[in-house]
Amino acid sequence: MYVYYPPYNKMRSADVLDCHVLVIGSGGAGVRAAIEASGYGETILVSKTLTGKGGCTTMAEGGYNAVLREQDSCEIHFEDTMKGGAYLNDPELVRILVDEAPMRIRDLLQWGAVFDVTDCCEVAQRPFGGQRFPRTCYAGDRTGHEMMATLVERLAGAGVEVMNEVTALDLLKDGDRVVGAVGLDEKSELLAIRADSTVLATGGGTRIYDISTNSSSGTGDGFAIGYRAGAELIDMEMVQFHPTGAVYPYDARGRLITEAVRGEGGILKNSLGERFMSRYDPERMELSTRDVVSRAIATEILEGRCTAHGGVFLDVTHLPGQQIEEKLPVMLEQFLKFGVDIREEPMEVAPTAHHMMGGLRITPKCETTVIGLFACGEVAGGVHGANRLGGNALADTQVFGKRAGESAGKAKKKRGRIDKRALDAQETRLSAFFDGEVPPSTVARSLRTAMWEGAGIFRTARELEKTLGVITHLSSLPVKAAGRSNLAECCILQNMLTTASLVVKGALIRKESRGAHVRKDVTQTWDPQTSPYGHSYQSLTRTGIETVVKA
Ligand code: FUM
Repeated sequence: MYVYYPPYNKMRSADVLDCHVLVIGSGGAGVRAAIEASGYGETILVSKTLTGKGGCTTMAEGGYNAVLREQDSCEIHFEDTMKGGAYLNDPELVRILVDEAPMRIRDLLQWGAVFDVTDCCEVAQRPFGGQRFPRTCYAGDRTGHEMMATLVERLAGAGVEVMNEVTALDLLKDGDRVVGAVGLDEKSELLAIRADSTVLATGGGTRIYDISTNSSSGTGDGFAIGYRAGAELIDMEMVQFHPTGAVYPYDARGRLITEAVRGEGGILKNSLGERFMSRYDPERMELSTRDVVSRAIATEILEGRCTAHGGVFLDVTHLPGQQIEEKLPVMLEQFLKFGVDIREEPMEVAPTAHHMMGGLRITPKCETTVIGLFACGEVAGGVHGANRLGGNALADTQVFGKRAGESAGKAKKKRGRIDKRALDAQETRLSAFFDGEVPPSTVARSLRTAMWEGAGIFRTARELEKTLGVITHLSSLPVKAAGRSNLAECCILQNMLTTASLVVKGALIRKESRGAHVRKDVTQTWDPQTSPYGHSYQSLTRTGIETVVKA
């Protein structure tokens, strides 16, 4: 169908829609929030992709952590999560996560989600890294896909107005309060949505790295949008590199090879055939936490014990073929497409940027530091500390998605005033792109390379400063929109630059190694539990790091 676009350099005045709750983001957290909020009043969900199709939840493979067995306990899940997070997690948020994860998976089951079950028809659980009990529930190796299919069906019956292909640009404020958002609709026209409460559920942003598991939508929009609206962000330096991403073919670089492969018994070997994890964590081996396994693999690669394609081997050939076919069907199929039968030969893997532990500071009710603005899922910080346990993210989306939707729904119905000047400013911002010179894709490519090289698994102040210099330079370039349909891409690029700068500044502020953040240039005398540092924080008005007052 031919879509009519008005003359490319003319912006039309924004249409204004009203609702009680506006949810921005259509992954697991956003959809869960919208379902919950719909019980309190008119709810609009905007998605820059297609709800249920874009985002990272649907790509999540391995599973959902929940305490479901008598032999397990919320206390052990709490301790595993805190230890895995190098004790930077907010304990109150962790308590909520572990206590409510079982109820939220029951919601999903009740709504029709089909998880794998045992012979006794109980939800099956598999071991994941850093956990003392096999508590990761799964639907083969397409758990997120099953969850999203269920959530989207539930959303359809909840009366939520879903607006796909709407890219949120910024939050709108009336004084100190967020009163909605302005975005670009599917025809690249400005659209303002006025809301009593707004929920940011935009997911993560590891697409700022050259090699990433994220879908193309993982561009850090919510971090940047929240930051510009005055929200405080914490621990932005905490970027998780998943140990096992594909290393070839080139187009599949970074694609997630689920931790479930190791959970099912997969082993890691270097090019010398050594099961090298015995050098890094002899007790937990391949099921150590992700920060440890990623560093181990990166070290093997850096020291030259890597495969022809620059990774290490991940081997399941010793497992029964039937187990691979039943428990890891997506892995099997995906590698067959690459010409590798994982029943007969090992995979080659290397670390890949996967998840952002930092994000908007939230309370247990998912309130951010800005009135009227709530956050949940990966865009919120504090739950996972310095390193997230695999399987805790899907649980996080449901636990805090529900909480955010409920808090936003229960908030007072108070229509704010939309400041016309804010919309005019967006029009000016957008129009300027038509006079730009550099394609956004060129800038994005340079950013990703710089982040991978200078703010990756191992960091030094020198490299971080250099990377910040590159980001500053890239941010000053006049980005060009070739036409109206490129406007969103230009704005998203600016979000990527802001997010990258928050990550690098956080990494400079935190002068210690902790969890996923390793400063090779810092010698420290403490372990995570006795660290003198708490959260790093960044906002328009303050930047720094909390120090821990010893009793
Ligand atoms: O490896 C995985 O399946 C990823 C899971 C997660 O990040 O929670």
